Amino acid sequence: RMHGFAYRHGSLHCEDVNLQTLADEHGTPLYVYSANTIRDHYRRLDQALGSIDHEVAYAVKANSNLSVLKLLVAEHAGFDIVSGGELFRVIKAGGDPAKCTFAGVGKTRAEIEYALQQGIYSFNVESEEELRYLNEVAADLGVIAPAAVRVNPNVDAKTHKYISTGKSENKFGVDFDAIPDLYARAAKELAHVKLRGLQMHIGSQLTSIDPFIEAVEKVAPLATHLKVTHGIEFWSIGGGIGIVYHDSLDSGGSGWWEGKPEGERPLTIAQYGEALFPRLEHLGLKILLEPGRLIVGNAGVLLTKCLFEKRGKAKTFKVVDAGMNDLIRPALYEGHHEIAPLKQPTGETRKVDVVGPICESGDFFCQDRELPDFQPGETVALLSAGAYGFVMASNYNTRPLPAEILVDGDTARVVRKRQTLDDLIAGES
Ligand code: LLP
Repeated sequence: RMHGFAYRHGSLHCEDVNLQTLADEHGTPLYVYSANTIRDHYRRLDQALGSIDHEVAYAVKANSNLSVLKLLVAEHAGFDIVSGGELFRVIKAGGDPAKCTFAGVGKTRAEIEYALQQGIYSFNVESEEELRYLNEVAADLGVIAPAAVRVNPNVDAKTHKYISTGKSENKFGVDFDAIPDLYARAAKELAHVKLRGLQMHIGSQLTSIDPFIEAVEKVAPLATHLKVTHGIEFWSIGGGIGIVYHDSLDSGGSGWWEGKPEGERPLTIAQYGEALFPRLEHLGLKILLEPGRLIVGNAGVLLTKCLFEKRGKAKTFKVVDAGMNDLIRPALYEGHHEIAPLKQPTGETRKVDVVGPICESGDFFCQDRELPDFQPGETVALLSAGAYGFVMASNYNTRPLPAEILVDGDTARVVRKRQTLDDLIAGES
């Protein structure tokens, strides 16, 4: 199954829970996640690498709700973090710091000290300067910092430019050609760093297997070289596996894309495993994966209520109560999210813009899209909003952050309360 959202008896459900009931009880905008979808995606990816020594290190940035992390702790996942705050969350959720990798180009002294004290698995560093700084902080604490360097393989991920990371012009990683010398210098000069791995990540929302193959084939000899010369034990091949955003409700089951032309089919977990397994199997390295979106993206929706229908001169606008502050992907990356009325549509469609209440023209969820008709007072679901949804939400326009609900079978739990007006000014004077 691709996700746990489907129409039943005429209304959209998350697993066994009617979404309209949740909207009525908890109000909108409201994020709702499906626990079994998260588990299912994690397990299928974990199985895709089969017998290879590997670990799925969930990219916490995609959705860092404590209850989501807790679910993945129970699955024995590792975690890829990008801040001291994310490490704090993983620990609060019962996760093991020894299963954490710490990514990012700009770690602070406080973050490095915290992560050293907690005993994380590896600092994935992105420059020689950062590696030297890590060495300095570790020396001050009298410890040895486990580390890996992120290699920039200069491969085109063919995704949106804001989420493409593996080209030389991106700020990420160290040039492919400079890696062997860097490891040699570090081994000689940096007594408080132990290089235990190599890392890469070429971008996010990749919908073709080709860039993954290209990057793995290019970097595998380097990983082998570093294993021989420096005894590294792991290679993280990053995250980035794309998900289905278009027609994602089509059948609610697997295989709905069979009838589609080649180019429109999503990258499947099975394809990913089949393509990469033979290229990784013989390396004798522990392989780390850092998926974020794949695990949680299609496991979440954002429910929003239609406030007004505004018939403009050129367009019809459906004004809803969620805005770009709640889900910024359409505004920031031209991200596409399917919009599904909770009441199963009967077939009638209209061309509309769905817009939020924020004072910006970029505050829209779709433009000129044929949608099943829905009226003021009705609630719709923005689909595939589980990744980079709530975590990128802000209080812009002094709007309270929405609540989050986790559904597991027939139970629904509030896993984050909606912010109150008092929450909005807490800490101010
Ligand atoms: N590893 C590293 C080093 C990363 O920078 C990222 C994501 C991941 C793993 C996880 O990538 P994923 O499997 O989720 O594609 N906010 C954007 C996506 C930003 C991705 C940032 N890095 C969006 O909403 O499309």
